[in-house]
Amino acid sequence: MHAWICDNPVGPEALRWVELPTPVPAAGEVLLAIRAASLNFPDLLTVQNKYQYKPTPPFVPGAEFAGVVEQVGTGVSAFKPGDPVAALAGIGGFATHATVRADKLLPLPSGFAFEHAAAFALTYGTSHHALVDRAALKAGETVLVLGAAGGVGTSAIQVAKAIGARVIAAASSDEKCALCLSIGADATINYGSTNLRETVKTLTEGRGPDVVYDPVGGDLAEPAFRSMAWRGRYLVIGFAAGNVPSLPLNLPLLKGTSIVGVFWGEFVRREPKASAAGLAQLSQWYAQGLIKPVIDLQLPMDRLPEAFARMAARKVMGKVVMTNG
Ligand SMILES: NC(=O)c1ccc[n+]([C@@H]2O[C@H](COP(=O)([O-])OP(=O)(O)OC[C@H]3O[C@@H](n4cnc5c(N)ncnc54)[C@H](OP(=O)(O)O)[C@@H]3O)[C@@H](O)[C@H]2O)c1
Repeated sequence: MHAWICDNPVGPEALRWVELPTPVPAAGEVLLAIRAASLNFPDLLTVQNKYQYKPTPPFVPGAEFAGVVEQVGTGVSAFKPGDPVAALAGIGGFATHATVRADKLLPLPSGFAFEHAAAFALTYGTSHHALVDRAALKAGETVLVLGAAGGVGTSAIQVAKAIGARVIAAASSDEKCALCLSIGADATINYGSTNLRETVKTLTEGRGPDVVYDPVGGDLAEPAFRSMAWRGRYLVIGFAAGNVPSLPLNLPLLKGTSIVGVFWGEFVRREPKASAAGLAQLSQWYAQGLIKPVIDLQLPMDRLPEAFARMAARKVMGKVVMTNG
């Protein structure tokens, strides 16, 4: 097997593509032949030692992947060789093979493409937990999605549309805004060239969005928060811009707004039944054609550094998926 090894988490440039002995699954584990793995922003933070979860080096990065079961360890009855599965293991995906604990695997329904399965649970799971569970978004309400052309952003547009909400997608370029319109956004704001708060006001006739979905943070957070409607819910998803913003606490008081934290990985660990129910609904929406991962680029696994460079340069639109031939 081959894998990208991180011996020193100082950034993607320190990763090495190496040949390793193919592992034998231990009790409770499964050996997977990986078909596809997608890049998520947390993978970038992990190889930079900036993510909240810090694996001990050496490790193989890649949180989200899909493939075919090759071998099962003792005690595994839920899977057998040949089964197509998706894996959410936190690490291990940027490789040709991985051993994964069976409880980190999801069986793939027939018709679920590996490229989509590798780019599904993390982003759509986050957006479903955020919009359905944490924000209780209702049909007819308006959502403002920041960083809307990124991985979680594109999934948030589709999940909000599946619920029946109106989506204002905000991103940093006209090209990104065009992508958002093409996947269902009702209106867009290019915050690279226009004033976010003023444009939100115009698009909502002064009322403001009911929900803000914010995976970017930085300088966008305060104007987005100030633009919200009465009883709005501000979803704190992440800080892709790099800095964690602060807000004056008189703002939520004045508008009766809630600041709602979203941590999907912890939700999966603490509330497995609720998480499984969310993923089941997402799987149904996928089968109905209501949601579909936006694949920006597919690259062979050994070209992973190009994917990391594209993400760090803020160029990804949707998801980059690495595949094994
Ligand atoms: N809370 C959770 O459970 C959870 C789960 C998954 C991901 N996340 C977080 O969500 C955030 C986005 O993840 P993702 O996988 O969607 O990433 P992504 O595909 O790279 O999208 C991030 C977006 O952020 C914007 N951005 C602004 N400044 C940036 C910068 N300096 N560098 C890179 N992007 C910048 C970009 O949009 P514009 O160019 O349009 O501004 C980009 O499209 C990350 O912080 C990640 O850790 C949180």
